[in-house]
Amino acid sequence: MLLLVLCCLWITPSSFALEFKYHNSVQVGQYLTEVSRNYSDITYLHSIGQSVEGRELWVLILGQNPKQHRTGIPEFKYVGNMHGNEVLGRVLLLQLIDYLTKDYLRDPLVTRLLNSTRIHILPSMNPDGFESSGRDCMYSQGRFNKNGVDLNRNFPDAFSSDNGQLREKEVAAVMNWLKTEPFVLSANLHGGAVVASYPYDNSNGGSELQGGSSVSPDNDVFVHLSKTYSRNHTSMYKGDSCFDSKDFSEGITNGYSWYPLEGGMQDYNYVWGQCLEITLELSCCKFPPESELPGLWDANRAALLAYMQQVHLGLKGQVLDSNGIPIQNASVEVEGRRNLCPFMTDRNGEYYRLLLPGSYTIKVTHPGHESVTETISVPYGPDRFSALTHNFQLQKSSSQSTPGTTVQPTCTPPGLNLSNNNNSAALLPSLSTALAAYCLLLHTLQLS
Ligand SMILES: *[C@@H]1O[C@H](CO)[C@@H](O)[C@H](O)[C@H]1NC(C)=O
Ligand SMILES: *[C@@H]1O[C@H](CO)[C@@H](O)[C@H](O)[C@H]1NC(C)=O
Ligand SMILES: *[C@@H]1O[C@H](CO)[C@@H](O)[C@H](O)[C@H]1NC(C)=O
Ligand SMILES: *[C@@H]1O[C@H](CO)[C@@H](O)[C@H](O)[C@H]1NC(C)=O
Ligand SMILES: *[C@@H]1O[C@H](CO)[C@@H](O)[C@H](O)[C@H]1NC(C)=O
Ligand SMILES: *[C@@H]1O[C@H](CO)[C@@H](O)[C@H](O)[C@H]1NC(C)=O
Ligand SMILES: [Zn+2]
Repeated sequence: MLLLVLCCLWITPSSFALEFKYHNSVQVGQYLTEVSRNYSDITYLHSIGQSVEGRELWVLILGQNPKQHRTGIPEFKYVGNMHGNEVLGRVLLLQLIDYLTKDYLRDPLVTRLLNSTRIHILPSMNPDGFESSGRDCMYSQGRFNKNGVDLNRNFPDAFSSDNGQLREKEVAAVMNWLKTEPFVLSANLHGGAVVASYPYDNSNGGSELQGGSSVSPDNDVFVHLSKTYSRNHTSMYKGDSCFDSKDFSEGITNGYSWYPLEGGMQDYNYVWGQCLEITLELSCCKFPPESELPGLWDANRAALLAYMQQVHLGLKGQVLDSNGIPIQNASVEVEGRRNLCPFMTDRNGEYYRLLLPGSYTIKVTHPGHESVTETISVPYGPDRFSALTHNFQLQKSSSQSTPGTTVQPTCTPPGLNLSNNNNSAALLPSLSTALAAYCLLLHTLQLS
């Protein structure tokens, strides 16, 4: 009996802590399946698609009600390992899942986060790249997907016309995912530098280009979000630039000002997904030795939690008609912020607008209804784990009203053009794409 008790005491710790190591794709799938069984009340596992080689793109959802969206509960996501050889994010996201599930109803911050937010975690967006990756700090073997494509250059780009470019399966899966969930805030985890980088990553030399940065209408929010991460990280705010000569003041940078890139995921999320996304570069070494993983988790844990809490910035609510029926596709514009695509209400008539504390004038427009303009004082929501809830009610416009008074801002989302190529041999790059690929190769050592 005593022996049995001792034996259990001895076994317990190891069976309760997720090992700090590089789990391969099969092991990640097994781990996530186990978590979703053990914590079926607060987690839900699903796949958003397959990689080129047929590996599942697993997403674990965590929250008080993980299976479906609920009104007023914002959707948050973390995406790791989009570049297959930048692997720390993948490890951190598994550790984060372990931490959130075990500390729910024990740690007040974790409990309040999961009760107020629906959190989606995609530990690896590029499992094929990971499996082919060399365990090297700098070398880029494994960066691309199986078709040799950089997934962070394969999204539709608001600043360049790439009509007809083929979307890789992993990219198409993420684009479809964005359509199914009204994501509000996101981060995409990389390596090769230590910095929080925010949109835009690209520019076409228009009014967004200001002094070498490509500045978005929500720049103040992006800077705040990036600083929240860098200051809650143990060292990112110091702006250590690893091998780069770039000076990252306070550990943050505008993406374009660091280096311009076309077809990136964060600009796509922001412009077409209505989801504010930043890119987190979390280690100088892209494939850190396993012995360093516990220290790197300690360096990032508070920052990962603080960043999620920022999903509660600003304003949220529903747009309703005079009968209280939610209105879909009403635009909700903040005066002074001319977003490339207007923020629109989702199928529940809901909107979420991340805003820093202050006074804002909001204009809500929908064809067939009178538009409404209101000025609202917005407090700091993260401390309360809720943005300010404010609903808008629209009256049907009378047929006499002058046409054109409620012109709704629009924007056409790009169509999906899926690549059917299953391996790089099937790719027949044109001379220009071959040249671009060659230049990219030359620069890959510095890319993150
Ligand atoms: C799931 O529960 C089993 C049985 O208690 C335990 O052995 C295992 O470590 C748990 N796994 C995870 C990932 O929580
Ligand atoms: C792609 O190739 C993998 C094996 O390399 C195969 O299992 C899969 O069915 C192929 N997919 C398509 C769409 O051809
Ligand atoms: C979170 O939700 C759980 C389950 O509904 C409840 O028991 C708990 O009291 C809540 N805690 C907080 C801090 O909201
Ligand atoms: C999809 O790509 C093909 C080949 O590049 C092109 O011919 C076609 O026009 C594209 N379709 C769309 C909708 O962009
Ligand atoms: C950490 O993040 C919180 C938000 O959760 C923020 O209030 C706080 O200022 C941050 N810490 C530092 C040192 O900036
Ligand atoms: C809202 O817009 C989407 C995308 O354009 C469209 O598919 C949907 O049918 C619209 N819904 C309503 C109720 O107009
Ligand atoms: Zn990267």
